[in-house]
Amino acid sequence: MSDTRTVTVINGDGIGPEVMQATVRILEAVKAPLKFEYHDAGSEVITKYGTNLPPATVDSVLRNGVALKGPTGTAVGTGLPSANVAMRKQLDLYASLRPVKSVPGVKTRYESVDLVVVRENTESLYAGVENIIVPGVVVALKIMSEKACTRIARFAFEYARANGRKKVSAVHKANIMKLADGLFLDCCRRVNRDFPEIQYEEVIIDNCCMQLVKDPSRFDVLVTENLYGDILSDLCAGLVGGLGLVPGANIGERCAVFEAVHGTAPDIAGKGLANPTALLMSAVMMLDYLGMKEQAARVEAALLRVYGEGQVRTGDLGGKATTRDFTDAVIAAL
Ligand code: NAI
Repeated sequence: MSDTRTVTVINGDGIGPEVMQATVRILEAVKAPLKFEYHDAGSEVITKYGTNLPPATVDSVLRNGVALKGPTGTAVGTGLPSANVAMRKQLDLYASLRPVKSVPGVKTRYESVDLVVVRENTESLYAGVENIIVPGVVVALKIMSEKACTRIARFAFEYARANGRKKVSAVHKANIMKLADGLFLDCCRRVNRDFPEIQYEEVIIDNCCMQLVKDPSRFDVLVTENLYGDILSDLCAGLVGGLGLVPGANIGERCAVFEAVHGTAPDIAGKGLANPTALLMSAVMMLDYLGMKEQAARVEAALLRVYGEGQVRTGDLGGKATTRDFTDAVIAAL
């Protein structure tokens, strides 16, 4: 029996509270030895705290070492950086891990997609260094450091080794950004020398997108910088049925934040229609990370059973089930 762990829970904005409530109900139903400590973040709490990322939230994640987070919206015109970008920087959550796997019973163009996107989370154009040089001319800096490129490469290779993955593909645009993406490739090549059993290849980002759409089975672990990783994650989500299904984790040396790939879905927020699968699968990743393997396996099996039976589907997958109907079905399948 694992020791009880306290998890920081951040509901977030839009559909965040709905999918979080569903996920916590399922975690309680599977009797995972977890305690939940609720904290705020996101655009909807700015008036309350004067910020979208209150210091108490950051402190809680550092204290507990692990958080489950709903999506947070980016309020335009506040001058604040997005809560996500701020959280990743403040907690140094340098690695974004997004496993993309076909869900049996969810019909898509490909049946057996099974790949992982590893994205560097702290640099590149997301450093947010933009300047107006003269009126009408803006420069946005792409920042790449040897330290960040090396640690994300090491993370990807170590993940591959620990999870029995065979190949790592470094995704880049070094033909154009010879210095910035060139540095990224140099770091990947150097780290690769410590992992001789893992096949290594380099793929240019535009070609990678085309290859993914044509034949995703040729990929295993993809490692890339921040912007390409963001775009690739959504592309890969599309391969397996959409944003409602794909989980994610942001991992650093001191803590890890588990969250779905999708955003706040303003078009369906508050209607009880959101698919909680992506956050629930993120919670499964969290259970695994905490060593609660049995509960992780049980939740995943229940979820796959609901999909396999094909009776209860939320609107994003063509069904009529509400968030609550879907959650009830998973709990019944546990
Ligand atoms: P989105 O992911 O919120 O929505 C895109 C489409 O997917 C919408 O049609 C939405 O209804 C659907 N969708 C997303 N999640 C779903 C779910 N669980 N169940 C059913 N349908 C789902 O992307 P969008 O509209 O570009 O972003 C909205 C807001 O979310 C923005 O403020 C953005 O900055 C923020 N965002 C936050 C993220 C995070 O906190 N990790 C990630 C991505 C976006």
